[in-house]
Amino acid sequence: MTRLATLLQTQLSTLPLGRMPFAQVMEMALYHPEHGYYGPGPRRIGRQGDFFTSVSVGPLFGRLLARQAVAEWQAQEKPDGFTIIEQGAHDGQLAEDILNALNEKPMRYVIVEPNPRHQEAQRHRLGSRVEWVESLSALQTGPKHAFFLCNELPDAFPVHLVRWNGESWQELFVETADAETFLLVPGELTSPALAAEVARLPTDLDPGHTLEINLTMLDWARELARAAFQGVIFIADYGLDEDEFFVDSRASGTIRRYHQHQMDGRVLEDLGECDLTTHINFTRLIEETALHGLTQREYDLQGRVLGRLAMPWLQSLEGSPPDAATLRQFQSLTHPAMMGRSFRCLILEKPARA
Ligand SMILES: C[S@@+](CC[C@H](N)C(=O)[O-])C[C@H]1O[C@@H](n2cnc3c(N)ncnc32)[C@H](O)[C@@H]1O
Repeated sequence: MTRLATLLQTQLSTLPLGRMPFAQVMEMALYHPEHGYYGPGPRRIGRQGDFFTSVSVGPLFGRLLARQAVAEWQAQEKPDGFTIIEQGAHDGQLAEDILNALNEKPMRYVIVEPNPRHQEAQRHRLGSRVEWVESLSALQTGPKHAFFLCNELPDAFPVHLVRWNGESWQELFVETADAETFLLVPGELTSPALAAEVARLPTDLDPGHTLEINLTMLDWARELARAAFQGVIFIADYGLDEDEFFVDSRASGTIRRYHQHQMDGRVLEDLGECDLTTHINFTRLIEETALHGLTQREYDLQGRVLGRLAMPWLQSLEGSPPDAATLRQFQSLTHPAMMGRSFRCLILEKPARA
């Protein structure tokens, strides 16, 4: 039994009904400061870790994002204090790749990082090349013109689970099954915010259809819109359009756990030792950001967006021997059978304070 599972058993035993919303358990499993997956410090990502991300593929992803940042800086007429803001920076690898590709362009780089252990690891890697804030709202007196970016951030937010029983949508709670294991049980929805999201869901699905509701992502969308900068927001993540969640083949939802490059749906096992993640609902994210004043510039498969950003580099290869390692990275990031189709990029425009 993991330390986190032991802690959860103890906490459940003190609750009147002996159960906790799944979202609360996922929050603990990922972010408990001592026993959560991300709490004690950034885990290794890549071959030696539990999963790959576009960042762990190699420096090309950062180089392409640096290209987009420079294009925004130029489009905004190279304002003083132009800032790249990154959230979900993990061990700082993407920041390092972007900064190395910027060739001393006069830009600030700010990381939004609430976890002091992650900040420490980033400081170790990046030193004085970067500044830090703990939250988007702490940008109050911060940058005016900015390029905000995140890779695989909202997929790591805790989600509520809801299940259709043929008559109504119910929330799923975690209960102790025996001394070692947990189970999911249905119950009443725990908040008006969740009820409001559930009211949007279809009711013609088969009983048992399970979905994730990412209320944290919706709060984050509002915070982004309110944050003290103007410019462009670049969100890369795996996700789906809303209708894609309702098909029979996704009846058990998209929540998965990752451990040593194995992926499965046994999300209550080895709590704190595995990454837990869901596909994000891009339709809902786009709606919420629009409601709060952000304008959609582009929403497309990662393969197409990065292909566009890579065009000048690809053209420059004509007639010269290609760099095999970089070409391999390009293929991993853009090929439809690799990260090109399952990952999508959303680019939004943000007025000063939406
Ligand atoms: C799946 S990892 C992605 C890491 C990195 N961006 C990459 O692509 O390799 C998700 C990261 O988001 C971070 N995270 C989660 N919630 C956050 C928040 N509210 N602010 C900043 N980082 C957050 C986690 O600590 C973790 O490092």
